[in-house]
Amino acid sequence: MGELRLLPEQASTIAPEVDHLLYFLLVVSVFFTVAIFGAIFYFAVRYRRRSEQELPNPVHGGLTLEILWSVIPFGLTMVMFTWGASIYFTEARPPGDALSLYVVGKQWMWKLEHLEGQREINELHVPLGRAVKLTMTSEDVIHSFFIPAFRIKQDVLPGKYSTIWFKPTKPGRYHLFCAEYCGARHSGMIGWIHVMEPQEYQNWLTGGAAEGTLASSGEKLFEGLACNNCHHADSSGRCPTLVGLFGKTVQLAGGGMVKADEAYIRESILQPQAKVVAGFQPIMPTFQGLVTEEDVLRLVEYIKSLGAKAAPEGTPTPGGVPAPKR
Ligand code: CUA
Repeated sequence: MGELRLLPEQASTIAPEVDHLLYFLLVVSVFFTVAIFGAIFYFAVRYRRRSEQELPNPVHGGLTLEILWSVIPFGLTMVMFTWGASIYFTEARPPGDALSLYVVGKQWMWKLEHLEGQREINELHVPLGRAVKLTMTSEDVIHSFFIPAFRIKQDVLPGKYSTIWFKPTKPGRYHLFCAEYCGARHSGMIGWIHVMEPQEYQNWLTGGAAEGTLASSGEKLFEGLACNNCHHADSSGRCPTLVGLFGKTVQLAGGGMVKADEAYIRESILQPQAKVVAGFQPIMPTFQGLVTEEDVLRLVEYIKSLGAKAAPEGTPTPGGVPAPKR
């Protein structure tokens, strides 16, 4: 017996919420469509002109009616707005304990990177019941990361990080699509999300042939690009130390502050002159064209890990960074 399915199956915590809102919008729309068309036909018949001599009786408005047809739609649209906004905010804010993963879109494939070092193409393995946060970027044009069963879709943009999160509720295999026309083989830019039992996922993680974590390959790259010649672990170099940088607020030359997040680090690697740290000279060369988006993600993870390493040492400032010279 084939069941009638209007929507894809629900396999994430947000999916039922999205569907409830959709059903509400559908019911309201159907109700008003039927009511309006019903009224049109009823009035057309009821008040039709019955003889050549009949003159219509003009109506000059009614305040009660005006108020009703303003207030009721206003109330209904406000319900739609607050309901939709609350789902939007839920989707925009990943829980703090979410598992972090990276996505790089390119014509025409999805590259997915685990912090443990596993790399996948057009496949993503995730554990059941755990929130997963995706930080995404594109190597070329705009793509869109779409998992219908999870009811999530987010544009993946070149030159920028976008994020989305989900928490799978059912083990299984779910379709991944690109939902933004991105060239000749856009329709082939598809893949699968494998939701595994946590134990099975652990086995999968340890079974894979990863060449070290994302942070450790970032460290190799950091040395390979000779970044460590200038960015010393202490503040003795001519460049700001990166130890404990991640998540910190940075004072910029010429005033202003910026939070050291993924986007800031990415920009500092590719366009070092964009935001120069107060007390330092703009001497860093750009690495645009020398590193791929995946390399940037590795470097970002390495710099993040520097914060984590510095924390237990009990240094005076948060993250163990002496304040930059001003
Ligand atoms: Cu990528 Cu369409």
